[in-house]
Amino acid sequence: MTDPTQPFRIPAEPWYRPVADEIALFEAAHAARMPVMLKGPTGCGKTRFVEHMAWRLGKPLVTVACNEDMTASDLVGRFLLDATGTRWQDGPLTFAARHGAICYLDEVVEARQDTTIAIHPLTDNRRVLPLEKKGELLRAHPDFQLVISYNPGYQALMKDLKQSTKQRFGALDFTWPEHGVEVEIVAHETGIDPALAQKLVAIAERARNLKGHGLDEGISTRMLVHAGGLIAQGVAPLAACRMALVRPITDDPDMRDALDAAVTTYF
Ligand SMILES: Nc1ncnc2c1ncn2[C@@H]1O[C@H](COP(=O)(O)OP(=O)(O)OP(=O)(O)O)[C@@H](O)[C@H]1O
Ligand SMILES: [Mg+2]
Repeated sequence: MTDPTQPFRIPAEPWYRPVADEIALFEAAHAARMPVMLKGPTGCGKTRFVEHMAWRLGKPLVTVACNEDMTASDLVGRFLLDATGTRWQDGPLTFAARHGAICYLDEVVEARQDTTIAIHPLTDNRRVLPLEKKGELLRAHPDFQLVISYNPGYQALMKDLKQSTKQRFGALDFTWPEHGVEVEIVAHETGIDPALAQKLVAIAERARNLKGHGLDEGISTRMLVHAGGLIAQGVAPLAACRMALVRPITDDPDMRDALDAAVTTYF
């Protein structure tokens, strides 16, 4: 029989530049089967990290992008109608728990609370998932681990995770890497010269100081990788920065001018 987890295995190493001791901590959490929450702003390396860790640990990775329309059945599974009658279809969470995958619930606060609560019995020492409609109590595979991501501060208070959910997880904080590390990431991801990457990082650092002073969020590492990618395609640095760093994050003309001016001091 073919291995059902095969499509979820990561064939080649996703390059990840550690910023602190997050690899060792995640490995320990995995060994202890502790659920892990990755906290941090958009574009700071959370997804890359979990992909790297799944590869490193040799585990399949099942990723679910959560949204507010998602129901518990979307996670857990449902009966489907086919030519021969009804057939149970495991949802991604059930599949991961059954086959010993790492299940990554991306942006979990977007899910409704009744959906989030479906993970509770899996994330305490019971490690079970009741499939009520099917009449099965699934015991999680020993290798199963749940990982969630969470952007603190983005969501309205109403949407925050309940303490009873948060307290089931160990948490790792992600933030912008320090200067030299971010330069290394941008240069590696795009192939541009480190001296050029250094300028992009310097622009981002200036923009990050404007967070809360007219900008909702700083320029992310992802955006720097975009800018570097345009430059690697032959786009002039100034145009690349406007397109990849400035235009996406603000519609405010004054803020655009301020950011464009910051860019022109470097290019
Ligand atoms: N430590 C790192 N090592 C390697 N690449 C990184 C690292 N941090 C960021 N990156 C780069 O930044 C990009 C964006 O990171 P990623 O997709 O992991 O962000 P994220 O934190 O998951 O964001 P979101 O919350 O929006 O999903 C990656 O594709 C990668 O190019
Ligand atoms: Mg992500």
